[in-house]
Amino acid sequence: MHIVVLTGAGISAESGVPTFRDADGLWEGHHVEDVATPEAYEAQPTMVQEFYDARRAALATVEPNPAHQALGRLEQELGDDLFLVTQNIDDLHERGGSTRVHHMHGELRSALCRACHARVEWTGTLVDYPPCPRCGITELRPDVVWFGEIPYGMDEIMVELQRADLFVSIGTSGAVYPAAGFVQFAARHGARTLELNLVPSEGTPFFTEARHGPAGVLVPAWVDEVLGSGLDAPV
Ligand code: APR
Repeated sequence: MHIVVLTGAGISAESGVPTFRDADGLWEGHHVEDVATPEAYEAQPTMVQEFYDARRAALATVEPNPAHQALGRLEQELGDDLFLVTQNIDDLHERGGSTRVHHMHGELRSALCRACHARVEWTGTLVDYPPCPRCGITELRPDVVWFGEIPYGMDEIMVELQRADLFVSIGTSGAVYPAAGFVQFAARHGARTLELNLVPSEGTPFFTEARHGPAGVLVPAWVDEVLGSGLDAPV
């Protein structure tokens, strides 16, 4: 059985990473479009760099939760039969034991050179415009896919969705495309679909089954089900 799992901010919520669209509708005190667009970066580069520098630094203050760890366990058992794609830019999947994570919206622990397009691992700050380790030009920006930019790895993701027997969406509001369209695409290609989210999302009507509650509870329970079923899993 081939499983594709899509995760969103909700899977990291219990680790203490704020989601985008809950509570006050702000992301760490900002409207998302004020920090997550190329236009925002052109207009206020220092503010945007400082914002992402703070998010990168904050990774040191959070830990993976049982939902990340359960997906790490699932990968250990399924190997290539699991494809994990996340919209999250944190590194909690990796620290929860997943080794092959497809970060479609980029990663905080990576910098993108606007001059040579290199993507380089980055743990420090960018606000002082350090030189690119590849070309030496001082044009590094956060390696994060902003609104209006094309997510990473879409061709591979679409192939994986077509192969999927089961598509599982965890902790995402279903508000942002293209990820919000994955459920219908996978279903059209024959996959069963399961939503695991705190509350019903915009996408709930499109899923074969939806379970609502905290990811830290729902995801380990679902992984136990899959692994206990000899891989002929129910959704
Ligand atoms: N367990 C499960 N789900 C949760 C939890 C939890 N503990 N806490 C919150 N959620 C759910 C919310 O109910 C919501 O449906 O997670 C979802 C988070 O939704 P968003 O904040 O919209 O995050 P996401 O769907 O990942 O956003 C998609 O939008 O701003 C862009 O690029 C950004 O990747 C992001 C994309």
